[in-house]
Amino acid sequence: MDELMSKKMAGLLIFLLVGCLMHGTKCDNFKVSLPYNVQVMKGSCVTIPCSFDIKNEFEGLLTDTCAAKWVINLDAKDPGLTDTEPVTENLLKKDCTTTFNKMQPDHDKTYYFRLECPSKLKWTFSNNVVNIKVTDNPPLPTLTPSTLKVKEGAFVSLTCSAPAPCLSYSPTLTWTPRLGDIQETVQKNQDKTQFKTSILNFTASRLHH
Ligand SMILES: *[C@@H]1O[C@H](CO)[C@@H](O)[C@H](O)[C@H]1NC(C)=O
Repeated sequence: MDELMSKKMAGLLIFLLVGCLMHGTKCDNFKVSLPYNVQVMKGSCVTIPCSFDIKNEFEGLLTDTCAAKWVINLDAKDPGLTDTEPVTENLLKKDCTTTFNKMQPDHDKTYYFRLECPSKLKWTFSNNVVNIKVTDNPPLPTLTPSTLKVKEGAFVSLTCSAPAPCLSYSPTLTWTPRLGDIQETVQKNQDKTQFKTSILNFTASRLHH
């Protein structure tokens, strides 16, 4: 095999490995996809984007009586986040996205996702973990550009972005003074965590110095 050919093969292999979970193709293996780090403010809620796949032979055992657990040990002896009223998305669709409420400092830990069905399908997924950081303050927004030199009459577009760790409560972004049109969007990072962006457009005048 020449070098180019083997490079192509390696690329294809990586594509298949990455592609099996991301695009919903069958992996025939136990795998979970999670963000590595998630930050949440004390007392607030946090949504962990999560999807998983299981070995083909267990497909029939995945029913709506299965439960999602978040544990801090592989042996699942220690239930992790049961006191946070967790709400899990559709496990039948292999969507284990979970929202936890009222996060407290003692929830600041590393968690495994565990699937527990009444049948023999019980599995702690170990290929990925999520580190939940509980902080005292809200995450800082970023403002771009932070400084700007423009001529009078120039078009100015300012962008403010802030993490939106919990889907049901996204941050409020306010411009003072409100100099022009404002556009808000919620976007996803590569790890599926979300952030909110607000864009303020206006025409610069001397008064805005
Ligand atoms: C602000 O300006 C940007 C860049 O030109 C444009 O894409 C966006 O639609 C504008 N938004 C508003 C609310 O005018």
